[in-house]
Formats: sequence, C-alpha cells, structure tokens
Amino acid sequence: MGVFTTSHEQVVYCHDRPSGLRAIIAIYSTALGPALGGTRFYPYASEDDALHDVLDLSRGMAYKNALAGLDLGGGKAVIWGDPDKDKSEALLRAYGRFVQSLGGRYYTACDVGTYVQDMDVVAKETRFVTGRSESHGGAGDSSVLTAYGVFQGMRAAAEHRWGSPTLAGRRVGIAGLGKVGKHLTEHLIEDGASIVATDVNERALEWVRTTYPQVDVVDSSEDLVAADLDVYAPCALGGALSDETVAVLRAKIVAGAANNQLAHPGVEKLLAERDVLYAPDYVVNSGGVIQVADEIEGFNFARAQQRAARIFHTTREILQLAEAEGVPPAAAADRLAERRMADVGRLRTILL
Ligand SMILES: NC(=O)c1ccc[n+]([C@@H]2O[C@H](COP(=O)([O-])OP(=O)(O)OC[C@H]3O[C@@H](n4cnc5c(N)ncnc54)[C@H](O)[C@@H]3O)[C@@H](O)[C@H]2O)c1
Repeated sequence: MGVFTTSHEQVVYCHDRPSGLRAIIAIYSTALGPALGGTRFYPYASEDDALHDVLDLSRGMAYKNALAGLDLGGGKAVIWGDPDKDKSEALLRAYGRFVQSLGGRYYTACDVGTYVQDMDVVAKETRFVTGRSESHGGAGDSSVLTAYGVFQGMRAAAEHRWGSPTLAGRRVGIAGLGKVGKHLTEHLIEDGASIVATDVNERALEWVRTTYPQVDVVDSSEDLVAADLDVYAPCALGGALSDETVAVLRAKIVAGAANNQLAHPGVEKLLAERDVLYAPDYVVNSGGVIQVADEIEGFNFARAQQRAARIFHTTREILQLAEAEGVPPAAAADRLAERRMADVGRLRTILL
C-alpha cells in the first residue's frame, strides 16, 4: 500500500541517528480536533510493517475518539526498535521534539512498549503528551476506566439481549487477567456475575485464586471459548474472534477490552449468523483514551469517569442502529463514527 492510496492527512518520518530513533507519526484525521493516539514501541520486521501498523492504528483511533465523544481526531505513532534494548532518555526526548514540531496537530500517549514513565520523559520536550504519571499531572493507569467502560458496554449489550442492564446471574468468561481484566473482574463480581477466567501468566492466575476464590479458572482460551458462557470478554491480545473460535463459541454476547478482536473482515458477519451479539471493541474499550484525553484539560478523575459512563449509551445506540438497519454492530459503529466526524467536523466551515 502506498501512503497516498490511504486517506490519511499526514504521515511523518522521524529520524535521529545518534539516539537511534526511527519513528513514524500518522495523523488520520483532525476533523474533530488534534489527533490523539499512543506510541507503540515495537521491533517490526521491516519499515513497511511499521508503516502499515501506524496507518491502521491511527485510522482506528479516529473512529474510537469520535465515538468516545471526544473533540479529538485520530493519530498514532510507532517507534521501530526493541523497547528493552533501544529505549533511552535521548531517544524518547528526540521523539518528544518531533511531536512538538507538529505544533499540536498530534497528542501522544502510551501504547504497547511505552509506559507512563516514558511519557514523563517525552513531556520534557513537548506539551502535546498525555498518559503521564499522576505525580506529573497525568491520568495514571488508563486500565481503570478502560475496564469501567467495558463493563458499561457489557451492561448495554445485556440489556439489548436480555432486557435488563445487568450481568447478575450471568456467566462471564474473561480471557486475560492483566491490568484491565483484573478491574473488570471486580466490576462483574460486584454486579453479581459468576466468572470463569484464563491467563497464560501464572501470577495472574494466582491473583484471582487468592482474591476471588469463587472464580473458576480454565487452562486456555480455547477451553474458555468452548465453556458454557453467557458473555465472552477477550481481554488479552487481538484476533480473539476467528472463524474457529466463533464456530465453537457458546456465549451470546462478546464484549471485551482487547483491540482488534475480529481476526479478519467478515468475522462480524459470522457472529451475527450465529446470533452472537458483538459489542464493538473500539467502542467498549474507549475508557482508556477518555481517561488520558482528560489530561489535556487538567486531569479530573470524576469528570473522566462520567464521560466513560457514556459508553453504556453509545453501545446501546449502536446495537439499536444495527438491528434497525440489519447490519452487524461493527458496521453500525463505523457509520456513527463517520457521521460524527462529518457533522461536527463540518462546523469548522462556518467562519468565526
Ligand atoms: N490498558 C488500557 O487502558 C487499554 C485500553 C484499550 C485497550 N486495551 C487492550 O486491552 C487488552 C488488555 O490490556 P491490558 O492493559 O490489561 O494488558 P496486560 O498486558 O496488562 O494484560 C494482558 C493479559 O493477557 C494475558 N494473556 C496474553 N496472552 C494470552 C492468551 N493467549 N490467553 C490468555 N491470556 C493471555 C497476559 O498474561 C496478561 O495478563 C489489550 O489487548 C490492550 O490492547 C487496553
């Protein structure tokens, strides 16, 4: 794919030879405001892979931010390298200067391979950064509102499917007891759900066995998917919904935190054919970006949580629109996002 065959606004290559920084910043759209999206630090096999990833991810952020009700466009950055070996103060600060050079068209944040401490370093060179630590005025760990938002989206899906916005008495399968999965477990237990969970990390399993002995633990995601579930919550890696998993899935709802859950285009149709209600990933997992975006105004947890609570209403609207128009919820979500980008983005043509 050539860069100009996509509909991105701007793609910037950044290189600082002494620190070894090789980064690409992609801005998909600023129709709603400055582009916001995290920085992925990853050892891509090639520059082409890095470019593809950043183009894909920045487009996804535009849709996510639009449906999260944020006045922010979509962008993303990738740093090509191994975070364990290549990350240094000089590299992060060089990256920060490139972000600053965009004059506020792009705000960065954490993603795979970058952490709040890294954003504190990036912030020495740019003011266009979120996801800093609380002691630096940042929003801290975004998994708190990510999990809260997933729970809200799941409640909306439960209401759509069973008539009542609660998971009480339902059996929910959580794949991945990481930062988000743990908080989600807490919300669901409080709501009265029963939980079956899995993780590849023994420490995560130990946490759940000690904290919530009532949670059933299974050996693998395959076992989880085939279990007798009402709801399946993928909270580990992307691609959780493939032809194979959908074929054996017994849950009636899928709602989870993982990004890019659909392994390939078309899986959303398979889910619909099997009468599985899919709450689109980028809608229900937007609590994290809502949390870090709040930093731009000066972080206020209560305000950010109020915004994340809207995920309930947005998910409900998407599921209703999907039903009314006879399309999968993923398609309905895209339509709503595009509508907001067009309707609100257009307002800037009114001269002030
Ligand atoms: N943290 C956020 O704010 C946020 C926001 C939006 C989306 N997400 C997405 O949600 C997902 C979870 O994020 P997180 O912050 O909790 O990450 P994390 O790294 O803290 O947790 C992921 C967990 O999944 C487990 N895991 C990995 N492979 C697995 C497998 N095959 N089967 C079962 N478990 C497996 C890991 O051991 C880990 O405990 C990711 O896909 C992330 O991109 C996170």
